[in-house]
This record gives sequence, C-alpha cells and structure tokens, in this order.
Amino acid sequence: MSVVRDDVTQSGPREGAGTTFRTVEWIGDAATGRLRMIDQTLLPTQFVEIDCDDVESVWQAIKRLSVRGAPAIGVAAAYGAVIGARSRGVSDPHTVRQALSQAAAHLSTSRPTAVNLFWALDRMQAAGDAALAGRQPLLESLLDEAHAIAEEDRAMCRAIGRHGAELMTDGDGVLTHCNAGGLATADYGTALAVMFSAHEQGKRLRVFADETRPLLQGARLTAWELVERGIDVTLICDNMAAQVMKEGKIQKVIVGADRIAANGDAANKIGTYGVAVLAKAHGIPFYVAAPSSTFDLSLTDGTGIPIEERDPREVTEGFGRRTAPEGVAVYNPAFDVTPAHLLAGIITERGVISPVDSHTVRTLMGTARASS
Ligand code: MRU
Repeated sequence: MSVVRDDVTQSGPREGAGTTFRTVEWIGDAATGRLRMIDQTLLPTQFVEIDCDDVESVWQAIKRLSVRGAPAIGVAAAYGAVIGARSRGVSDPHTVRQALSQAAAHLSTSRPTAVNLFWALDRMQAAGDAALAGRQPLLESLLDEAHAIAEEDRAMCRAIGRHGAELMTDGDGVLTHCNAGGLATADYGTALAVMFSAHEQGKRLRVFADETRPLLQGARLTAWELVERGIDVTLICDNMAAQVMKEGKIQKVIVGADRIAANGDAANKIGTYGVAVLAKAHGIPFYVAAPSSTFDLSLTDGTGIPIEERDPREVTEGFGRRTAPEGVAVYNPAFDVTPAHLLAGIITERGVISPVDSHTVRTLMGTARASS
C-alpha cells in the first residue's frame, strides 16, 4: 500500500520547528501493526509513504533505497524483524523466536556495508532471547526493543548535533556529500544535525551539497532537507568540489558514515574519500559525524569493511535515460573508505574524537557493540 501525502511536500518542515515527517514509523500494535516509511527514491518531486507488513517488502525497501542511510536502515530492519517474528503464528514462543532468527538472517542480506543493519538485528535477537528466558510476551518485547533503537537514534542524533555545532563558526562554508540528514536516521541526522543545530544557535552557515552520483542523494535529499529548513544551500556537481575549495568557499567538510573501524577508518558514500583528499590538499578540516551504532570495533581497520557493488544501470541509466553505450563495462561501488589520517575528528553522541586513531576511538567508543 502506498500513501501519498502532498501536504508534506508543499509545506515541509519549517525552520526551527524540527522535522514534520517521520522517516521510519511503526503504526499499530505488535500483533497487527505495520512499518511505514518515506519512499526516498521519489523525493524531492513526490512525497509518498509506503507501508510494509511482510519481511520481503522491508528487504526490498532497503535494497532499492526507499529507506537508506545507515541508522535508518538499522531502525527499519528492527521493525522488519518484528514483522518477521509473527509470520508463522504467535501462539508458541519458540516458533516466534525461530521466525525472528529467519527474518533477521534474510534482512541481513539486503545491504552489506552499513553496520547499523547488523547491529540492530543483533539487538533484536538478544531481545528475543531475553524475553524467551524471562517468559515475557515475545512479540511485545521485540516491538519495545525496535522502539528503543529508534528512540536512542533520535537522542544520539540530537547529541551529535550539539557536539558538532560547537565546531562551527558563524559564516562558515560547509561542504557535505550524500545525505546524512533526518531522512538517513530516525530523526535529525548526523552530518546535517550539526548544521541544523548550528543554525538553531544562530550561526549562519553556507552549505555546499555535492549532488552525489550515481543516485543523487545530495541533490535529491540533502538539498531538499536544507531548503525545507531555510538553511542556505548551494548544489554542486561532485567534480566541482576542488574548484569550490580553491575559491576559498569551504571552511569545513562534514559527512556521515556507514561503518567505522576501530582505528577510525570510515566507510561512507562513494566519492567521500576523494573529498577528504581534496580537503587535505586545501588545508580544510574534514569531519565524520556518526553515532556509536556505526562503529564496528571488530575490524581493526577499514580494509575489512565490505563494499556494496550495485547495478550497473545506476550508472548507465541514472537520469531516466541511457547515457552510455550498450555493452560498456561498468564498475559501481556504492561506498569507499576514508583513512583515519585524513579525518580532523569524528563527531559522536559521546563527544568529538580528535585526533582519530585506535587509542582515541577505543577511549570514547570502548563500550560500543561490535557486529557479529
Ligand atoms: O546508499 P545510501 O544512500 O544508503 O548511503 C548513505 C550514506 O552513505 C550516508 O552518508 C551514511 O549512511 C550516513 S547516514 C547518517
């Protein structure tokens, strides 16, 4: 089922009022409820919400990027696990527990890079075990855990915004890549949270948004979020970043992350690494903003981060028509890894990690859960 809400496209979230949309939302109770999400593939021209009440439709929504952004993927998967857990009936708790495992195993195959997906599914499995051992109502306990994951994400994003805003100076030009806003999280975002928070404090930022080929998350989503909040934003093609930096328009770069290794190497949308190299060449501080759920301390460095490869047609037909010859070879990695030595800091809900190395990451994130 799709629900079109034209009212949101027309009015949108107002300046200083917080977002009026819910990226990921649970409607109803544990036994009969459903997962409602914005179909981000249609933004910014259409605001359509999709409802999912089976695991396969949640898997598909993650795979085709209707819901995307590491924290939002984790939240969607957690609710998807609730839907999966009830799929074989709810009268026998052991059957519910088995169905939960099966759903989690399937959802974990949707996208490989964002660790938040695996982190959230691990939490759901642990909550299932605890409820079973404690003879608590299993499905309700699972829904409580999914709600907790969503709520914690909202709180972490607000804290990231507060910590990051302290690094911003009135008048700064800030470059960002991809979308790490409210659409990529339960609410408020990570990299964009820093800009929202600074803006709410009265600091005037001039944001430059890379359009972010091939799927244009910067043009379609980041530009939309910033325009809707009344923040000064200028859209540039990815290959314009060096020129804009050379012209002195950029004082800081802030991006999100999909997985951060124990030494601070950070995977994010393809093109991020190049922006970090450019920032270094121009002496511009480059920050990553991410919650503790994005850290994977089981990986000593970024070489072990799996990089998703996506359909070549995203490159050859990305603008709705073919832009390359038939039969041409295409390589389409969706993410890259920025080495820790290029980072001025990682802005987390616990504070800013700076300088970024194995010791400083462990000191602040020592208790972050590693993925299985
Ligand atoms: O392929 P996407 O759109 O899911 O990629 C998203 C990103 O790379 C984001 O920058 C990252 O997930 C951080 S979101 C707070």
